Amino acid sequence: MSVTLNNLAISNSRDHLRRHPAAKMLRRIIRPAWFGTLRRLTPISDNWGSDRGRPVDRYYIERFIAEHSPDIVGRVLEVKDSTYTRRFGSAVTESHVIDIDSNNPHVTLVADLSRADNIAAESFDCFILTQTLQLIFDVKAAVSGAHRLLKNGGVLLSTVPTVSRIHRTGGVDSDFWRFTTASCAALFGEVFGPDQVQIHACGNVLTSVAFLEGLAVEELTTHELNAHDPNYPMLITIRAQRATTP
Ligand SMILES: C[S@@+](CC[C@H](N)C(=O)[O-])C[C@H]1O[C@@H](n2cnc3c(N)ncnc32)[C@H](O)[C@@H]1O
Repeated sequence: MSVTLNNLAISNSRDHLRRHPAAKMLRRIIRPAWFGTLRRLTPISDNWGSDRGRPVDRYYIERFIAEHSPDIVGRVLEVKDSTYTRRFGSAVTESHVIDIDSNNPHVTLVADLSRADNIAAESFDCFILTQTLQLIFDVKAAVSGAHRLLKNGGVLLSTVPTVSRIHRTGGVDSDFWRFTTASCAALFGEVFGPDQVQIHACGNVLTSVAFLEGLAVEELTTHELNAHDPNYPMLITIRAQRATTP
């Protein structure tokens, strides 16, 4: 007992030392933060880095879609346009584009994913739903809607941001949410069943800061992009498969 109490006392005093203002100042001196071009109140690019090269989130989104390209077969649905269906799909028999925006020239199915009852259920083998759920207030209804549109055994390939600048349409905020692996596990697990869902976090503190600052993929090394730090993800990928019912 006395050993345990002694250990507790030692760890408390170490903690106290760590949090002492002098210790904090010492840490700032030993490991100075050189802000360089980051010491400014506006980002380097205000356009997700697309004016400097390839936005950092696209590195993770496209790596994920490429990894799961065998899922992109048969009747495929994608949001906004069919870029990833055409680029990564094989044996695609029919390609559709869903959007709430009826002015989108690529749209073949105009619907609000959170209440898309105008689209027949169990219609698609694959649904590519990238970077969209953060824009939908009733995100749970949207995930249920995605599940409803898939055939038995059909696959949802989705990505959501953990860190990103706010998307604004016509000067109005369009984003409602940011996600974590925990929120995605709860959200998708509840609709698809926990065993039907694979969730991965991508990125690290450097890529998160780089994406906020609007730096491009071309400004980071492959080692930096591929480093995984679960404490500082910038994007979550979700592969969810609708269970095959007998
Ligand atoms: C930021 S884009 C992302 C899509 C794109 N494939 C990508 O990877 O970046 C989001 C798209 O979702 C659409 N959208 C927003 N809310 C929606 C909803 N409730 N139902 C269906 N589409 C929606 C937007 O109009 C827009 O075309």
